[in-house]
Amino acid sequence: MPAHPRPALIDTHGRTVRDLRISVTDRCNLRCTYCMPAEGMQWLPKSDLLTYEELTRFARIALECGVQGVRLTGGEPTVRADLPALVGMLNALAPDLDLSLTTNALKLTAMAPALRDAGLKRVNVSLDTLSRERFHLIARRDRLADVLAGIDAARLAGLAPIKINAVLMRGVNDDEVVDMARWARDEGHELRFIEWMPLDFAHTWDRSKLVPATEILERIGAVFALESEDTDDPSSPARTFRYADGAGRVGVIASVTRPFCGHCDRIRLTADGQIRTCLFSLKEYDFRAALRGGASDDGIEALLRAAVLRKEPGHLINSAGFVQPDRGMSAIGG
Ligand code: 5AD
Ligand code: SF4
Repeated sequence: MPAHPRPALIDTHGRTVRDLRISVTDRCNLRCTYCMPAEGMQWLPKSDLLTYEELTRFARIALECGVQGVRLTGGEPTVRADLPALVGMLNALAPDLDLSLTTNALKLTAMAPALRDAGLKRVNVSLDTLSRERFHLIARRDRLADVLAGIDAARLAGLAPIKINAVLMRGVNDDEVVDMARWARDEGHELRFIEWMPLDFAHTWDRSKLVPATEILERIGAVFALESEDTDDPSSPARTFRYADGAGRVGVIASVTRPFCGHCDRIRLTADGQIRTCLFSLKEYDFRAALRGGASDDGIEALLRAAVLRKEPGHLINSAGFVQPDRGMSAIGG
């Protein structure tokens, strides 16, 4: 008998949904070139965003179907008013919930203690360079020092482990692989390099600028001996490696060159209440309409089960007919 009161969410490819990513806002206080245009983003109207009550109700039903982890994303989740309140509401659903946050860390200096007190367990911080000038070029804001301060605040607050997500682009920041690895080792953070995916609003993705995970590992391995982890959770997108000298771990997320769709256990709820069963879905399921239209919990569960049944076998980035979704990463939620 499962420990949860509703049947598990299983798709037609035999995968079970265990991870829910919730985008709480499409807005952001940075403008990373691989994500958003410099100007002219059209934000969702406030009334389209799910309220914290609506988000919590949806999450409760998902948890009742066996979901074990909830990750809050954006845009930048900390720019939504009073994020700790939502963390508290989700934590109250199940105190053993794996509740995490993907953030650019800018607001963590102010917010890390409140997030921890509300029940947040850990954070993933997006950071693509250690150079101030480059940070300014990539994120279009001169805020590297604030990000580093935010990461320190998260550590001080006891949010652990701290994982750092870095997206590499050839000719932009790929020469920093070893420097970033050394920094993260010294700081005790787990660094994961993510292959650049075609998910930006401006459709600027260029395969020739993607740095393959194998190359990243070779370059780190040439300086620090690596041992592969045999304990990796197959549904985790990251392949992790131990530093042979015991100084922690480093990982790669080879989304493009070595897709892990066959083990994907994720679904995503956009800030405006649409369920996407894949980052690259061309179809969305409107849960805002259901939540606001008086649907019962059983009704929401039935809609969710129907959406999961249609979960895509995988992305088609490497196929001839690939079509990039209209909405970018900041609207979908990493
Ligand atoms: N390709 C790969 N990673 C991306 N991210 C944002 N856009 C892309 C993209 N096009 C990363 C962010 C964040 C995580 C959620 O996804 O840097 O760390
Ligand atoms: Fe903001 Fe993250 Fe997009 Fe950068 S990648 S603009 S931090 S949402």
